[in-house]
Amino acid sequence: MKKLIAFLALALAPVLPAQKFEGLAPTPPMGWNSWNTFQGKISETLIKEMADALISSGMQAAGYRYLVVDDGWEAPERDSQGNLVPDPARFPSGMKALGDYLHSRGFKFGIHNCAGTKTCAGLPGGRGHEFQDARSYASWGVDFLKYDWCNHGTADSQETYNTMRDAIRAAGRPIVFSLCEWGDTKPWTWAKDTGHLWRTTGDIMDCYDCQGAYSLGWKFILESQAGLEQYAGPDHWNDPDMLEVGNPGLTLAESRAHFTLWSLLAAPLMAGNDARKMSEDTRQILTNREVIAINQDPLGKQGYRFMKHPGKQIWAKELAHGEWAVCFFNDGDAPVQLRIDWANLTFLKGTYRIRDIWQKKDLGQTTAGFEAPVASHDVVLVRLRPTS
Ligand code: GLA
Repeated sequence: MKKLIAFLALALAPVLPAQKFEGLAPTPPMGWNSWNTFQGKISETLIKEMADALISSGMQAAGYRYLVVDDGWEAPERDSQGNLVPDPARFPSGMKALGDYLHSRGFKFGIHNCAGTKTCAGLPGGRGHEFQDARSYASWGVDFLKYDWCNHGTADSQETYNTMRDAIRAAGRPIVFSLCEWGDTKPWTWAKDTGHLWRTTGDIMDCYDCQGAYSLGWKFILESQAGLEQYAGPDHWNDPDMLEVGNPGLTLAESRAHFTLWSLLAAPLMAGNDARKMSEDTRQILTNREVIAINQDPLGKQGYRFMKHPGKQIWAKELAHGEWAVCFFNDGDAPVQLRIDWANLTFLKGTYRIRDIWQKKDLGQTTAGFEAPVASHDVVLVRLRPTS
């Protein structure tokens, strides 16, 4: 009888589809990525120096723990068995040794490749090698895979990324799977069971409102995020691309506003500056614990745009325990005087204590109005806590 039950249980068991590793990104992943500042000019020495700088600057302690080596780490060809190999001149110790170093310094190890035949930099892509590559990543101790979309030909995005997800699963090492498909086929509508985060746009550029052939300043990227909030949550995040905070094309106000808005968007916070040389102002922005706490709030809700008028946008993010983060963003070219009547913020219920996050000041309660100057491209960020 027991045997019969066991047989029936097996025969009737549903065929389970392969799955991503669950629970790896309960809050948006935080880390540092080499692309925005260094593009292909990377080496194991640079990555190790960056790891050390992230520690000495306090960034690691503030939560930046994935150190992601983007495009440019590979040799131009696979080996005779078809395995990926690191560039022998720039990564002479190999990726396992680099992973070991990063782990010994308390980081998680991230790496980049591409779902197409070649990466955007023309190095070997993963197409047709997914299971073999996933085994390599697992053997190197990789914890995070950013998977790009150059040279994909006529491939179907969902099928392609699901193949890599299944390959990661089969290799057996839990790896955060970061889809970098640029939003082309609206991954927010299909990738929840595929990966932990997905890019929603083309590449970010080191500027506020400039535009290149494939890249955009953060103002345009922000604009395209309004409305996507319903698709994000724990373990499945919209990714409006990495941070340009501290890079030369942004003013201090633009860096502060970019960091604030990405935090409200529950975006992955992947720093992209040279952490070895950052100014104290940049360090203060990137390590502001109260802003990071809004991004990492355990409720895991992406913020949304509540209002947009010329020169004034209001973005709001619901937080755990009935709290709210509210950002007033001056997207215009002239300073504005912000005047808030809290009763107009219709998502609020009752009275709240106000904390001005960038001023690091408590400002009383929402029973009185609020006024503050906001410089061009700058923000005011408040956290509201219910009084009862
Ligand atoms: C694409 C991605 C970037 C970066 C480069 C590397 O453009 O969107 O984030 O990874 O490829 O070549």
